Amino acid sequence: KKLVVFASGSGSNFEALAEACQKGELEATIELLIVDKEEAYAIERAKKYGIRSIVLLPKTFESKEAYEQAILAELEMIEPNFLILAGYMRLIGDTLLSAYPNQIVNIHPSLLPSFPGKDAIGQAVAHGVKVTGVTVHYVDAGMDTGPIIMQRAVNVVDGDVEATATAIHQVEHELYKEAIQQIMK
Ligand code: GRF
Repeated sequence: KKLVVFASGSGSNFEALAEACQKGELEATIELLIVDKEEAYAIERAKKYGIRSIVLLPKTFESKEAYEQAILAELEMIEPNFLILAGYMRLIGDTLLSAYPNQIVNIHPSLLPSFPGKDAIGQAVAHGVKVTGVTVHYVDAGMDTGPIIMQRAVNVVDGDVEATATAIHQVEHELYKEAIQQIMK
């Protein structure tokens, strides 16, 4: 199966998937990395794995639709089975959603529907919950609202956002490949 990954930042989830593909734990290939920020460290990680990456800056397009049309043009040659969002900080619009129905997947660092949106880990620690976690879900037009594919719980380290984040990221790197492997069957 062919995957295209979207990222905006560090790209540790992207790298975990690239490694899983390389090892054959994930029976797929990452054909392309698309980033929306020039400084995204994910680009460096792509080089390490010999994965092609492109930067498409939303600001350089006249509308969200035009931006997503440019993405579609890149995807046309590849014909990916799934679009994998990995720290891609942007809502997906109608153009991409209707071109890839039920084929766009996201990972979020909380047990949805709790703590959607930005800084989910900080929100969970601030709220004082004792258990949070990770959710892999299909993407719809909302913010972190689509049908859930897989979830895993992670204990909160009381008052410690950094330690909780470390634990969450470790679980993310496992859960994402398992969830993608499952939906590819
Ligand atoms: C992850 O916590 C992911 O759940 C969220 O954004 C973060 C991306 O981290 N959507 P990275 O760029 O994969 O390291």
